[in-house]
Amino acid sequence: MTAKLILGKDIGNQIREELKTEVEGLKKKGVHPGLAVVLVGEDPASTVYVTNKGQACRDLGIHEETFGLPASTSEAELLALVDRLNADPKFHGILVQLPLPKHIDSNKVLLRMNPDKDVDGFHPMNVGRLMVGEPIFLPCTPAGVQQMLVRSGNDPAGKHVVICGRSNIVGKPMANILIQKAKGANATVTLCHTGTKDMASITRQADILIAAMGVPKAITADMVREGAVVIDVGVNRIPDPSAPKGTRLVGDTDFEAIKEKASAITPVPGGVGPMTITMLMVNTVRAAKAAHGLK
Ligand code: GUN
Repeated sequence: MTAKLILGKDIGNQIREELKTEVEGLKKKGVHPGLAVVLVGEDPASTVYVTNKGQACRDLGIHEETFGLPASTSEAELLALVDRLNADPKFHGILVQLPLPKHIDSNKVLLRMNPDKDVDGFHPMNVGRLMVGEPIFLPCTPAGVQQMLVRSGNDPAGKHVVICGRSNIVGKPMANILIQKAKGANATVTLCHTGTKDMASITRQADILIAAMGVPKAITADMVREGAVVIDVGVNRIPDPSAPKGTRLVGDTDFEAIKEKASAITPVPGGVGPMTITMLMVNTVRAAKAAHGLK
């Protein structure tokens, strides 16, 4: 079997087209969605993400401003900026790019954000809202994975989904989304992590396997059941002397071997990646509508 590719670029474009129409409609009602993006320091990967976020906003007609601060910014200065953005009605969404420099406590920064502007869904209030089944914002990367599953004809309802990785950004919210008694969810979820014994025996039971460990090619073909759907959230830069830059991106799965066994798989790059920004746009529009009392 050669797996079908699930491409985040295509699915993301489909969602962005839907959003574009929605943003045009909102503007006619006098609502102009706005997003503030905060970047502290000059981490190259973060800089690329932030640039792409700005471009996505411009393509959709969403107002966007990037606040680039030096790596030496103090925690107090960053908190003061968050206060200012919380109070500014131009911005319906605020995103503080992670990771932050080590001298800044990111939990403190997330807590300071107005939860109604927290388009990442990382504020403990939004984590809690999701846990009790009343989310306003779903964290972008796992929400993107859910859309990829549903829109590729792989609805997780009733399926055994095995997630590898327990980060606050992907693994944990992914599990919380898919256990909801809701459309596009209702799955049986097993969450594997570094404390899991004999992970392969569990991943082999997966109808849908989601790799989010941040370890290059950690999921090998022998860990995948024939016909499973494999979603690779990993983005790892590894040395490759044959590549023009001397490095290349790989996921958390051994794509070449697994594509012969899975029924569907996401490549890296071009798989989950583009979905994160798309779902950020979805959340920004949702925040703008909520701020104006629109459904
Ligand atoms: N760093 C890596 N992924 C993310 C994300 O989804 N949101 C934010 N704010 N920072 C990130």
